[in-house]
Amino acid sequence: MRTPVIAGNWKMHKTVDEAIRFVAALRETELPGNVETVICAPFLALPALVGEVQGTRIGVGAQNVHEKNEGAYTGEISVPMLRAAGVKYVIIGHSERRTYFAETDETVNQKVKAALGGGLVPIVCVGEVLEERESGKTKEVVQHQVKQGLNGLSPEAVAGVIIAYEPVWAIGTGKASTAEDAEEVISFIRKTVADLFGQQAAGQVRIQYGGSVKPENISTYIAQPNIDGALVGGASLQPESFSKLVQAAA
Ligand code: G3H
Repeated sequence: MRTPVIAGNWKMHKTVDEAIRFVAALRETELPGNVETVICAPFLALPALVGEVQGTRIGVGAQNVHEKNEGAYTGEISVPMLRAAGVKYVIIGHSERRTYFAETDETVNQKVKAALGGGLVPIVCVGEVLEERESGKTKEVVQHQVKQGLNGLSPEAVAGVIIAYEPVWAIGTGKASTAEDAEEVISFIRKTVADLFGQQAAGQVRIQYGGSVKPENISTYIAQPNIDGALVGGASLQPESFSKLVQAAA
C-alpha cells in the first residue's frame, strides 16, 4: 500500500547541461508506474530539470533548504523559492550536511517544519556512524534522530514525510548494509514512529534505505516488508544505472 520511492541524490555533481542530457537519456528508458522516481539535483540545475521532466513520472528535489522563508541569509535558498521553481521534494539532514555543515537534529527539525509548511515533501536522513554501530548504539542513535527531527509534527504531517535510513559507514563505500540488517533498523524506526505518532502515521510514512545501493542489490531491499525504496548516490549519476535501479524496484 506504500508506493516505493527511489530518489537519486546527485550531491555536488552535474552542470545544468549535464542534468538536461541525463533526463533526455532517462526519457528514452521505460520507467515503471508503480515506483515514485525522484532526482535531487544541485540548486542551479533545478529549474531546467523541472522543465525537462514535464510529462514524465520523474519528480525533482533539492538537497537542502533554509528554514526561514526569506531574509538576510547570504547564500541560502528557501522553501517558497523551491516551490516557485516547481520543486516537490527536499533532502534534509543528509549525513554530509551534518558532518561538513554543522547541521543538527534541531536544524533538521526546523527545516522539516518549513518544508512541510510550504508544501515540499521532506526526505529526512538518519543513520549511525561506524563507531556507533560497533558499540551497539545504532537503534539509540536513530531513535534520537527520528524523535528530534520530527518533534512537534502532527501524525498527519508525519505520514507525508519520507525517512531515509542511511548508515554513514555504507555511504559511498561500496559496503552496503545487508537487506536484513537494514530491515531490522527500518522496522525499529517504524515502531519508533508508531510510539510517537500512532499506528496510522507509522503505517503510512515511507522509509528508504540508503548506502551503496546499486541496480544489482536494490531488489533485496525492496523485498523487505518495511523498506519503501532507496536514496541513491553514486548509482544515480548515470542514466543507465539509475533507470535499471528504478526498474528493479518495481
Ligand atoms: O544520498 C545518498 C547516499 O548518501 C548514498 O550514497 O549510494 O553513493 O552510497 P551512495
